[in-house]
Amino acid sequence: MGEAPGADAPFGLLAELTHRCPLRCGYCSNPVDLVGRGDELDTATWCSVFDQARALGVLQVHLSGGEPLARKDLPELVGHAAGLGCYVNLVTSGLGLTPERLAGIDHVQLSVQDADEAGANRIAGVKAFGAKLRAAEVVREAGLPLTVNVVLHRLNLDHVGGIVALAERMGADRLELANTQYYGWALRNRAALLPTEEQLARAGEVVADAQARLAQVMEIVYVIADYHEAHPKPCMHGWGARQLTVAPNGDVLPCPAAGVIEGLGVENVRDRPLADIWYSSPAFTAFRGYEWMREPCRSCARREVDFGGCRCQAFQLTGDAAATDPVCTLSPHRGVVDAILAGGPTEVGHRAVVR
Ligand code: SF4
Ligand code: FES
Repeated sequence: MGEAPGADAPFGLLAELTHRCPLRCGYCSNPVDLVGRGDELDTATWCSVFDQARALGVLQVHLSGGEPLARKDLPELVGHAAGLGCYVNLVTSGLGLTPERLAGIDHVQLSVQDADEAGANRIAGVKAFGAKLRAAEVVREAGLPLTVNVVLHRLNLDHVGGIVALAERMGADRLELANTQYYGWALRNRAALLPTEEQLARAGEVVADAQARLAQVMEIVYVIADYHEAHPKPCMHGWGARQLTVAPNGDVLPCPAAGVIEGLGVENVRDRPLADIWYSSPAFTAFRGYEWMREPCRSCARREVDFGGCRCQAFQLTGDAAATDPVCTLSPHRGVVDAILAGGPTEVGHRAVVR
């Protein structure tokens, strides 16, 4: 196996254990073509993935989905990853979380949809709010650090003050307020989810006040609404730079959405060792570093800040994954984003459920 020049070892693995999920959030970034239960990796293969990831240098394992608690073998998987010395983070809806299922876990990220029960259940597509309050209690009683994750959009941005209060009530150590990123189901529901400039401005002020007021109590991270910005986000901190994703069926991806890029040459951990895929597969080497860049990114002073933005977004909006992210005002395709922002809202639809 030959290492590509400039490729460092990854330190994070996003293990998407399953696409099954009790919630049906319309902003879900999971692919529209979800992997069914029959195509999921089995326990032994996931354990082998963790072994290979650790040997490759991975120290943080994020167990995600879908809902990872839907996997009956979760305790075994957690025990295996923890036994390798990895820091194990559970990314969950909270439904089905019990004290027993927290054994071996170092940190929990709990999703919350809105500030109150009616709003949260409407966005989730199921009655989940009460279970989330109980899940937060279970995490706190176990003495584990808790991050509350909230995806922001047109339907809940005006409630961000209430969302902060809810996170305080839940005893969160960290609150991540992330404006919707448009992949998967969120892309399909984009017109219903896009906020207005006024909503973003008001929410930004509320968040800044809360960050100052709660500085000693709860860290508040705010992820911008990139369509409304002049420059793109530094997606994944660079392609194939820090983290890899293993999908429920074993596909190994440079980012969770990369499956949308046609002709990327995605390989599967059932067919090839993880280290070979990381260092030399077409998918991981395609946009690593700076050589692949064209103008205006190639000679841009910001290329080491934002890495030319997001490859998946470039592909989704221009059909060319090597194009400058159209969010950038220097991109010849910025007009695509401006036209989307000028469009009118529609109703949100819930994602499909996989069992
Ligand atoms: Fe970033 Fe490319 Fe835009 Fe420069 S031209 S700001 S590198 S996306
Ligand atoms: Fe795939 Fe940004 S989501 S590179």
